[in-house]
Amino acid sequence: MADKDGLKVAKNYHLDEPFANMGDFHVKGAASLDWGMKKHLSRIFDPITGKTVMFAFDHGYFMGSTSGLERLDLIIPKLEPYVDVLMATRGGLRTCVPASTRCGVALRVTSGSSMMNDDLSHEVVAVGIEDAIRMNADCMAVQTFIGADGQLSSLDNLSKVINDGFKYSIPTLGVVAVGKEMERTDRFFKLATRMLAELGCQIVKTYYCDNFEDVVAACPVPLVIAGGKKLPEDEALTLAYNVIKGGAAGVDMGRNIFQSEHPAEMAQAVRKVVHEGFTDKDAYDYYRELVDKEI
Ligand code: R5P
Repeated sequence: MADKDGLKVAKNYHLDEPFANMGDFHVKGAASLDWGMKKHLSRIFDPITGKTVMFAFDHGYFMGSTSGLERLDLIIPKLEPYVDVLMATRGGLRTCVPASTRCGVALRVTSGSSMMNDDLSHEVVAVGIEDAIRMNADCMAVQTFIGADGQLSSLDNLSKVINDGFKYSIPTLGVVAVGKEMERTDRFFKLATRMLAELGCQIVKTYYCDNFEDVVAACPVPLVIAGGKKLPEDEALTLAYNVIKGGAAGVDMGRNIFQSEHPAEMAQAVRKVVHEGFTDKDAYDYYRELVDKEI
């Protein structure tokens, strides 16, 4: 292992040069993967735009019933037509999502903490690869806790899932967690996202931050960005706009969609930003138009 003290701070991200190893595939870092992996990645990232709108409603895995997700069976059918991927637990999917859905599936496979704990960083792999295969999951989501008490066990979980994923050609989505005590700086996100990619994840979920373009450039796999806590709709659309402008391959948004007063309209507006290059302002006008039509 390199001597920590002797390391130079990374600074040249060559922002004017696109990723050099795209080959003939539309997903960053995936050119050398096999057909099965690429097929799953193509269900996540639209082959035309290269981007994705993932809808995260896996919050119940540690939060139980959450505002906006009280009835998965009622909200998911309203949103499913407007998103590319459903990110959920196996329980949420099997009980409340019709198997006829055309969406890709990001299956959460780790768990082990709840809102009752102060330290949420200790999880286990709770869903086996056989069940991910049975559910035809397009990727398996693993929570990771870089710099937290649970770092070692979460990276152990991640590595096991990645190893199984390679056996059966199912991509792994590494999720960068930000705890109460954890940093939310570009330095932290550069470290965490790059570690997850180098450990073998095919997709990394993280947060927006200052110098986000550097984080994207330093990570050789696509980044999808969590929405975080609920913001007013115009601000959430600005977040989506900034992350796409900064080079993210999409969003993996939860609360900023399902806690909106108008979740379906919000999902459609986010889609315009991600897939059609709308500015945040145009997307918000579009959202207002949709809402006004409904009223
Ligand atoms: C992280 O713990 C889970 O994947 C969450 O479901 C997801 O990150 C939350 O999305 P959002 O922050 O947009 O509600």
